[in-house]
Amino acid sequence: MDRPIGMFDSGFGGLTVARATIDLLPAEDLIYIGDTGRYPYGSKPLDDVREYARELARSLVDDYHAKAIVVACNTATAAGLDALRAELDVPVIDVIAPGAHALVRTTTTGRVGVIGTVGTVSSGAYVRAIAAGGAPVTLSSAACPGFVEFVERGQTVGDEVTVLAERLLAPVREADVDALLLGCTHYPFLARTISDVMGQGVTLVSSADETAFAVQHQLAELGLLRSDGRRGTHRFASSGDIDAFRELGRQLLGPELDETEPWPPARGCSVPGTD
Ligand code: DGL
Repeated sequence: MDRPIGMFDSGFGGLTVARATIDLLPAEDLIYIGDTGRYPYGSKPLDDVREYARELARSLVDDYHAKAIVVACNTATAAGLDALRAELDVPVIDVIAPGAHALVRTTTTGRVGVIGTVGTVSSGAYVRAIAAGGAPVTLSSAACPGFVEFVERGQTVGDEVTVLAERLLAPVREADVDALLLGCTHYPFLARTISDVMGQGVTLVSSADETAFAVQHQLAELGLLRSDGRRGTHRFASSGDIDAFRELGRQLLGPELDETEPWPPARGCSVPGTD
């Protein structure tokens, strides 16, 4: 089908999901919005984040004619997934359920951990997702305030990141987990430091690949996958500084991110490439 996949996050984190989706589904068109003008989501009340998510998803459908929405943000999923699914008439794919599945598949000891923003961890969304799957695992969680800010500044390694990681990851280290889910889409960019702090015996699980598979599965089931064999186009928009988004976004995602447009788009004129 000749319409793009719509994806959003508070900023750069969802680019981990965009990367996996572009790699798995190279024929699909993608429109990604990074809400850098209002980031971070993780420290904000979930009611506010739900309103942002509704606004972004509605725009992806109305302004860019998205055929499906990928909520490439754990905090927005925890805050708004039910509302989005109730309100939108396109499929809405989240990152929490795919991540939870991947986590329980990875563990061999049954002791698993999840790290995320304050909003995600305090919502209990992962506790519910793991319980819904019924796997006999013990889940330990830790909120990691400050990680997202490092990524948004483009600082993904170094002493400051390590010192913060050592403090914030202490509860999941003490719980002796063998698999740790990066329950915030920004965190894969810090994987080197997180892995060093957690040690070799702990497998880091990211929801990005699993979410891309969920997108493929949903689109295939609904007959919405592109089948004309051409390469997809990839567009990126930001509610913040579009030059800064292009510069850091390109480093984090890769060459597909070569232009950034402002979001919201000017109303009353059509968005190029979506007619
Ligand atoms: N990347 C987002 C998440 O997965 C949110 C980060 C933030 O803005 O705090 O939770």
